[in-house]
Amino acid sequence: MSEDRVNHVPVLLREVLQVLVPQPGETLVDLTIGRGGHSEAIARILGPSGRVVGFDLDPENAAVARDRIRSTGCPVETHQTSFVDAPAILQTTGRQADMVLADLGFASNQMDDPARGFSFRSDGPLDMRLDPTAAVTAADLVNRASERELADLIYRYGEEPLSRKIAREIVAIRVDHPIENTLHLAEVVRKAYGPRARQSRMHPATKTFMALRIAVNDELGRLESLWDELERTIGAARTGGGWLGAGARLAFISFHSLEDRIIKHRMAALVKRGAAERITRKPIIATEEETDLNPRARSAKLRAIRIAPMP
Ligand SMILES: C[S@@+](CC[C@H](N)C(=O)[O-])C[C@H]1O[C@@H](n2cnc3c(N)ncnc32)[C@H](O)[C@@H]1O
Repeated sequence: MSEDRVNHVPVLLREVLQVLVPQPGETLVDLTIGRGGHSEAIARILGPSGRVVGFDLDPENAAVARDRIRSTGCPVETHQTSFVDAPAILQTTGRQADMVLADLGFASNQMDDPARGFSFRSDGPLDMRLDPTAAVTAADLVNRASERELADLIYRYGEEPLSRKIAREIVAIRVDHPIENTLHLAEVVRKAYGPRARQSRMHPATKTFMALRIAVNDELGRLESLWDELERTIGAARTGGGWLGAGARLAFISFHSLEDRIIKHRMAALVKRGAAERITRKPIIATEEETDLNPRARSAKLRAIRIAPMP
């Protein structure tokens, strides 16, 4: 196995297969296809009569996924667009999805590439866009937002208690030195932390970087919009219409509590009104064996539902 493949071991793969139960000939919609780790494993089961339809903001990841899945013999198509647009695109295909998977956030190749600007561990431009053609970078936010906006953003998306201090420090520094690089921002945050930095178990910039990434990519707004679209689709699915088949399985993997909260509430609302049945009662988390191999799996939570047919 190449190093590249090892870097993209999909999170909770065995558990995803257990909740989605793919069958030969079925159609998978992968809303965040990434490098195709989950999709490739599922495509091997779907076989030549199945289909994978994938979406990703990142064109390079979508291309890698397409090649990987094609090599299994299962037909595949990918779209370089936000998953928010997926329902409208799927509506035009005339094919019904049996499974929908969303493995949210970023892929390890994106985090590990200093040129993408996601990490404070190596220097690179303060970018953080999952879609490299998007208009606003993290540097734009850091250098243009008001102190208040920055503080609110770092508090809301990073749940960072020192958000006001960090925003104050950013604004004081950027007057003379615009903050364009990851290590510069990490240093500014460390300065705002002061002696607390030594007591902190995680790098002081962890929460600030997470907050900026969520803001740059509008991660929560897009997730809410996706659920709005799914809810509209599910109404049609229950009567056998639309792109989502009655009985279709939906699995979502999230990596932070803000995302998980949205998924939990949206799934619970569907179950409450009888439009879906739970496949998972509680979120499934990674085994110790998996987290030893892949530390990122530590924060992963998997939740799944099945669309209930009309009684
Ligand atoms: C955790 S990775 C997915 C990994 C994939 N399951 C695999 O096994 O290779 C998340 C992917 O979702 C993409 N992504 C994040 N937000 C997105 C959105 N709103 N629409 C489409 N793709 C998105 C990222 O670019 C990234 O490639």
